[in-house]
Amino acid sequence: MTWQATILTLFPEMFPGPLGLSLAGKALREGRWAIEAMDIRGFATDRHRTVDDTPFGGGAGMVMRPDVLDAACEAATAANPGAPLVYLTPRGRLLDQALVRELSAGPGVVVLCGRYEGVDQRVIEARNMVEVSAGDFVLSGGEPAALLLLDACIRLLPGVMGGAASAAEESHGTDGLLEYPHYTRPAEWQGHRVPDVLLSGHHAEVARWRRAEAEAATRARRPDLWDQFTRRMAEQPNTAK
Ligand code: ADE
Repeated sequence: MTWQATILTLFPEMFPGPLGLSLAGKALREGRWAIEAMDIRGFATDRHRTVDDTPFGGGAGMVMRPDVLDAACEAATAANPGAPLVYLTPRGRLLDQALVRELSAGPGVVVLCGRYEGVDQRVIEARNMVEVSAGDFVLSGGEPAALLLLDACIRLLPGVMGGAASAAEESHGTDGLLEYPHYTRPAEWQGHRVPDVLLSGHHAEVARWRRAEAEAATRARRPDLWDQFTRRMAEQPNTAK
């Protein structure tokens, strides 16, 4: 089954962009996923192809019209039935690996990329959009966020990632820890040696060291994730070592 991405955007030429290259590009050519970028402007009904208007209540910027977006959503949903409709906005829930896994396991996704100050609230509610943010920063539009959301989903599709084992071990893998640090040759570089344990050939000790490093990094860098992890361990102490 082909995982279908349908993008609603004012800049369809931004897709597939970098997703046509590398791992995602190869998977695209293999038919493991497909992408259709729909130009929102194509759903405007007036002579000037208007997609936005000034905000009621005043203020800066422009708001995307609900009637135009609703017609665009109707077409996108018809082209990609059963896929959830994600609206990318800094007001959304933060994108995380749990949501990526969920979307990747489904039939695909319809992604609405906003521009201007935003989208009329009524169409967000009428179309039951899932509002998702790429992070606590503001982009000029949803398109770069769409590219990163798709990248994260595509690499989890069956047959896409070379070493499937790395999916569970990587940062934000199933145990929710950051990943341990990596080293390769040379064993000594600019006076810095690779940790001895990694050269020891003791697989159990390597695994123990990596686990300790992953926990230490998570505690130091991401107290929020560490907190979630320790609470999960307290609830279900047997699900991870
Ligand atoms: N559009 C503008 N900023 C964004 C963000 N941080 N995440 C998702 N979409 C956006």
